[in-house]
Amino acid sequence: MLILGIETSCDETAAAVVADGRVVHSSVVSSQVDLHARYGGVVPEEASRAHVDLIVPVVRDALAAAGVTLADLDAVAACHGPGLAGALLVGVSAAKALALAADVPYVGVNHLEAHCGAGWLDHDLATPLAVLLVSGGHTLLVEVAARGEHRVLGSTVDDAAGEAFDKVARFLGLGYPGGPAIDRLAADGDRTAIAFPRAMPGELDASFSGLKTAVVQYVRAHPEAPVADVAASFQEAVVDQLVDKLARAADAVGAATLVLGGGVAANSRLRERTAALAAATGREVFLPPLALCTDNAAMIAAAAAVRLVADGPTPLDAGVDPNLGLG
Ligand code: KG4
Ligand code: ZN
Repeated sequence: MLILGIETSCDETAAAVVADGRVVHSSVVSSQVDLHARYGGVVPEEASRAHVDLIVPVVRDALAAAGVTLADLDAVAACHGPGLAGALLVGVSAAKALALAADVPYVGVNHLEAHCGAGWLDHDLATPLAVLLVSGGHTLLVEVAARGEHRVLGSTVDDAAGEAFDKVARFLGLGYPGGPAIDRLAADGDRTAIAFPRAMPGELDASFSGLKTAVVQYVRAHPEAPVADVAASFQEAVVDQLVDKLARAADAVGAATLVLGGGVAANSRLRERTAALAAATGREVFLPPLALCTDNAAMIAAAAAVRLVADGPTPLDAGVDPNLGLG
């Protein structure tokens, strides 16, 4: 089963061709990060316009790189939520048009479900999984009992983890996106220098807004503090909290495997601590390559294969849902 997947929920225009929900034949991602860096964050209107410009060349590239044409496809899938409404509409409209042209089913895919399943691309994972999905828009702990079966165990009560990285980085004058900048700077800092608070609002929920405020207050009171120490101490407070939640989630579901997903899964300290947690608790761990952590269309095509078998095609009059949740 050969599926073309399309992803346009935020600031990446992506298309991929995946066989049988597992084998990546091509995966093309065109990032708009330079466009949005000028504004210090994603501007929805600009994102939609850029998707319109990029969608056809990106789809063409993905088909060409896989060595296939529309006639070879068994389905066309697109992310239909959650995300920015105008951005989602570009990918969904393109996918429907291509499905009509190729006379194959259209499949609408939940972005969060796709992130949770990205680990199955070119890999086998022992279930149940405890997945920590941390991006600029989401902080979720998810139990995946089997492929396609999701249960949300916890989330953030305020900012997403990536949002916290981006806001603190902006305050520290490190630019956008902030996560990679803080990660790099933290390598030269002392993570025990400043005891920032670890919020524990509920067993499996996370919170970052208090931490962000604490960083701002600390830096205003101690302008001489080395910025690398602030970055390292902030990062450690975020990672402490995330790893603590993941440990609780893993215990709660008897997880066989710990999995990270989302852009913040690129964080070197989070990867290190997650691997250590797995080793200490005798679980397997899957730390996806960066290209699978961040937004991509291979994960959309992979999830579409599961949904197509379970639920059949998505009607062509189905819309997008910017606030779509997960199971
Ligand atoms: O998944 P993603 O590419 O886009 C969505 O938000 O959907 O995630 C982007 C987020 C940004 O907030 C960025 O600052 C963060 O992931 N990020 C990182 C790192 N690399 C990217 N955060 C911490 N450490 C990193 N190395
Ligand atoms: Zn994402």
